[in-house]
Amino acid sequence: MQNILVTGGSGFIGTNFIKLLYNKYPSLNIYNFDELDFDISTQNHSELNQDRYKFVHASLLNKDALAHLFFNVNFDYVVNFAAKSHVDNSIKTPEIFTTNNIIGTQNLLEQCLKKQPKLYIQISTDEVYGSLSESDPSTTEESNFQPNNPYSASKAGADCLVRSYYKTFGLPVIITRSSNNFGPYQYPEKLIPVIISKIKNGHKVPIYGKGQNIRDWVFVEDNCAAIDFIRNNGKVGEVYNIPGHKEIRNIDLAKKIIRLLGKDESEIEFVADRPGHDIRYSMDGTKLEKLGFKVNGDFETNLNKTIDWYLKNEKWLKVFSNV
Ligand SMILES: NC(=O)c1ccc[n+]([C@@H]2O[C@H](COP(=O)([O-])OP(=O)(O)OC[C@H]3O[C@@H](n4cnc5c(N)ncnc54)[C@H](O)[C@@H]3O)[C@@H](O)[C@H]2O)c1
Repeated sequence: MQNILVTGGSGFIGTNFIKLLYNKYPSLNIYNFDELDFDISTQNHSELNQDRYKFVHASLLNKDALAHLFFNVNFDYVVNFAAKSHVDNSIKTPEIFTTNNIIGTQNLLEQCLKKQPKLYIQISTDEVYGSLSESDPSTTEESNFQPNNPYSASKAGADCLVRSYYKTFGLPVIITRSSNNFGPYQYPEKLIPVIISKIKNGHKVPIYGKGQNIRDWVFVEDNCAAIDFIRNNGKVGEVYNIPGHKEIRNIDLAKKIIRLLGKDESEIEFVADRPGHDIRYSMDGTKLEKLGFKVNGDFETNLNKTIDWYLKNEKWLKVFSNV
């Protein structure tokens, strides 16, 4: 049996990743280390057999908890999803993002240095590359970092630290950077579940500015499959972009979802724009394709799947009392 540590495994992407691992690899012991920012996510893995799945409720800022875990278990793989992830919150409380996303990552890297897993994977984001104009070419793994908000700056900082532990100490690391994920188990503070919950609860759908910002969307199960493919086939020391190949303006995405829910665009309410709101993210996925993986998921099908999941899991739409 091999051991894998998934930090942030109760969050949106981490939850989907653990389910993939659990179903695909019967001989893998999965450890989820998460401080549980979201009450609603405590039950995300209730169906998993405790023989193969262990939960540790702690923060990456708790060095003792990390040391205790690494003392007791030899990990073959460590995949770091844990991070404060909401840009709006990072504008209100930037320091929390710096501390958790950078110092938390460093605490984990330190334990890895002592125990030397086969591979450490850092889960990063297209946001580190900053904002593109509509005519700019897509960013590659070689593009410069130009983060524009405290969240993306903290993720860029963590990426730099991870790289330095490879270059300086020889820790075997890989970094993945994906586009915006969508799918089941996303906390309803992010765009797609916000739109669904607002409509289902009879409220207007708030859209920043005029909704002209462009995001590239990847279905969370495709991102998880790509991360797992990279875990098995990626080259140590490398960075891999994971684009969804589906760029769309926020306003067009909102209209699409609202129509699928049987309403019209009169449900949209434009609100004051987010400071430092990036115009467009777009990544080139050639490097991952050359490695042997291409995201092929059909956006419309996966969007419908996502909406169906939220409609069947209504408690996820009632997280906020004003929603
Ligand atoms: N959601 C996206 O579209 C997207 C896109 C690209 C990259 N990412 C990255 O993927 C990772 C996961 O994102 P997500 O959308 O699942 O976020 P999420 O907010 O849904 O989940 C993050 C999880 O990490 C946990 N966590 C936060 N700080 C922690 C700490 N200090 N110690 C232990 N656990 C902690 C939270 O409790 C939560 O369960 C993040 O690193 C994020 O930057 C997300």
